[in-house]
Amino acid sequence: MNVIEAIEKRYSVRNYADKEIEPEKIDKIMEAGRLAPTASNQQLCKHIIVTDKELIHRMVSACENQKWIETAPAILVECASGDRTMICGQSARSMDCAIAMSFMTLEAVELGLQSCWLGWFSPDKVRALLNIPDDYVVVAVSTIGYPAKEGYRSSKKSSEEVIVYNKM
Ligand SMILES: Cc1cc2nc3c(=O)[nH]c(=O)nc-3n(C[C@H](O)[C@H](O)[C@H](O)COP(=O)(O)O)c2cc1C
Repeated sequence: MNVIEAIEKRYSVRNYADKEIEPEKIDKIMEAGRLAPTASNQQLCKHIIVTDKELIHRMVSACENQKWIETAPAILVECASGDRTMICGQSARSMDCAIAMSFMTLEAVELGLQSCWLGWFSPDKVRALLNIPDDYVVVAVSTIGYPAKEGYRSSKKSSEEVIVYNKM
């Protein structure tokens, strides 16, 4: 599978099969995060994978009681230390974490897995649950696993609506 095929095959899954992710697949997913680019190559992210069933159970309440989360065999959590705003005005930390999570969730597709990013989570509750130090900010959370049944990606805007060549 090449990169565009992984992008095309990705879709958000909110119901996972009762099947663990093979350790060698987890290693590849984590490696995709490790190799992602970071602002000034500072590499301030930690790429956490939660596979402990009790922790996954407790993540539900840290994620606005989205109960379906518990069907996932693993949860990825991206956090980063440092608080640098780049000259462009954006947080380097947020971008680095989002890029790493993108790489990891696309690698997951190559391995037959799917994911669902979560914006509905309490950073403080996730921090407390996973012993994340105070100088780290929890930026991104995603479930990951084998889909219970095949799904499909949500519809996307047409290329005319979102792609711009040269000036807007
Ligand atoms: C930053 C971000 C936060 C999201 N937060 C949630 C969430 O908390 N709960 C949820 O069920 N889906 C969440 N989603 C999934 C989106 O709803 C989903 O990506 C979108 O509907 C497009 O569908 P697709 O991923 O199948 O293309 C989130 C996605 C992103 C990128």
